[in-house]
Amino acid sequence: MIGSCAFAATAPRFASGKTPALGFADFTRNAAPSLLGSRTPRNGALSARTGKRFLPIRATAVKEARNRDPPAAVSPDCRKVMVIGGDGYCGWATALHLSKQGYEVAIVDSLVRRLFDEQLGTYTLTPIASIQERLKKWKEKSGKTIDLFVGDICEFQFLESCFKSFEPNAVVHFGEQRSAPYSMIDRSRAVYTQHNNIVGTINVLFAIKEFSPECHLVKLGTMGEYGTPNIDIEEGFITITHNGRTDTLPYPKQASSFYHLSKVHDSHNIAFTCKAWGVRATDLNQGVVYGTFTPETQEDEALINRLDYDGIFGTALNRFCVQAAIGHPLTVYGKGGQARTLEFSTRGYLDIRDTVRCVELAIANPAKLGEFRVFNQFTEQFSVNELAKLVTKAGEKLGIEVKTQSVPNPRVEAEEHYYNAKHTKLMELGLEPHFLSEGLLDSLLNVAIKYAARINTSLIMPDVSWKKIGVTPRTLVSKQP
Ligand SMILES: NC(=O)c1ccc[n+]([C@@H]2O[C@H](COP(=O)([O-])OP(=O)(O)OC[C@H]3O[C@@H](n4cnc5c(N)ncnc54)[C@H](O)[C@@H]3O)[C@@H](O)[C@H]2O)c1
Repeated sequence: MIGSCAFAATAPRFASGKTPALGFADFTRNAAPSLLGSRTPRNGALSARTGKRFLPIRATAVKEARNRDPPAAVSPDCRKVMVIGGDGYCGWATALHLSKQGYEVAIVDSLVRRLFDEQLGTYTLTPIASIQERLKKWKEKSGKTIDLFVGDICEFQFLESCFKSFEPNAVVHFGEQRSAPYSMIDRSRAVYTQHNNIVGTINVLFAIKEFSPECHLVKLGTMGEYGTPNIDIEEGFITITHNGRTDTLPYPKQASSFYHLSKVHDSHNIAFTCKAWGVRATDLNQGVVYGTFTPETQEDEALINRLDYDGIFGTALNRFCVQAAIGHPLTVYGKGGQARTLEFSTRGYLDIRDTVRCVELAIANPAKLGEFRVFNQFTEQFSVNELAKLVTKAGEKLGIEVKTQSVPNPRVEAEEHYYNAKHTKLMELGLEPHFLSEGLLDSLLNVAIKYAARINTSLIMPDVSWKKIGVTPRTLVSKQP
């Protein structure tokens, strides 16, 4: 049973409907510049879709008694894992996986991802339950309890309470604004993204230093930090000989959005604190994740993971499968004239089942004190064209005719480029990848078909332009000031 509020002292006091509901601009105006004060809307925002009031969230914690006896396979040195962002796409699947493996897990999440949907009029294709319902169902199914701390890690007092209460051996940090298009909507979202991500990560580093100096930080970065250099991408570091002298240096970063830039800055801050304070950290430069199911999220409808398909939060393959399911052409970004498309643009991809396993491998094999490790976390590389072909073939098998449409590229990025990124370190630790088989496509496509009635086609097309930052996207139901 979900228990008492452990942090009543920092719990929010909400006005009772006297203040008008706040839109996103108010939220970010309150949130972004305020490093010390409240980042929470005073009276919550109205749901754009349902009209219901979305209660603001701030520094509240819900706790339950923990499982005390992990299986022998889990080392006591890494037994207690705090999953920041555990209500999100990667975090939810990871929290359940670690719990199933016998780790003692606590989720820390501000639930702000759900708020973005409310504000932008977007929503997950799969109907996800509230975090409280999810955890209750998990307890029912597995007999295992996952602690829950609801609050914003940019509020240090809240984070301090989480650390002191849970005393983690490892922190897996997924808790960031993770959409590049979101960060390119307008100034307020660019500022929000960098503030949320960079301040949140600095707070985690300070919390480790002050309350759990032995704690291992496993931080989710992205392969997008590297950009697309015309040489092989190494795992974090490159040895360079220059004017007769040789050194091993951080691999150059060429981020291509305010979101990606926030991740680059995170990496620098983490590397610095490893050196300065002896923090132990693993930076997982993750590729694009696809898929919905892990064995744990499949155990019950109430445990289902989110699946984003809209132009702001949907990632390439997930988006393609949803498009295919409703007969919408696959939207391959390229120049309007179709003469050159981004079909050769290549990225690293991985199955969500591998995301959870990679994180587990990193936790079970922690970095040494003072060590800053970087793993490139993806299993296969595909060009957009190859992905589109795979989806078309899988669609044929299900009797769906899949077409491809080239749409103007909203991003500023190389249209054709060399791409060869190393990814051996997680394999060396024992990762056995799930490759992008047609079976997986069937399962992604079948999920999309199952929930096709929920698809809102007006959310599919890319709506945010890197060059026209500040133009209100169509997904916004009402215009913001
Ligand atoms: N999904 C991908 O394909 C992908 C690829 C590469 C890297 N990543 C990285 O993995 C991480 C997780 O991605 P995801 O797809 O699960 O994102 P997501 O948006 O689904 O989940 C992020 C979660 O973090 C929470 N959160 C955000 N800011 C917070 C804060 N200040 N305090 C507390 N909670 C906060 C959100 O409410 C959300 O539940 C991100 O850091 C992202 O950059 C994801």
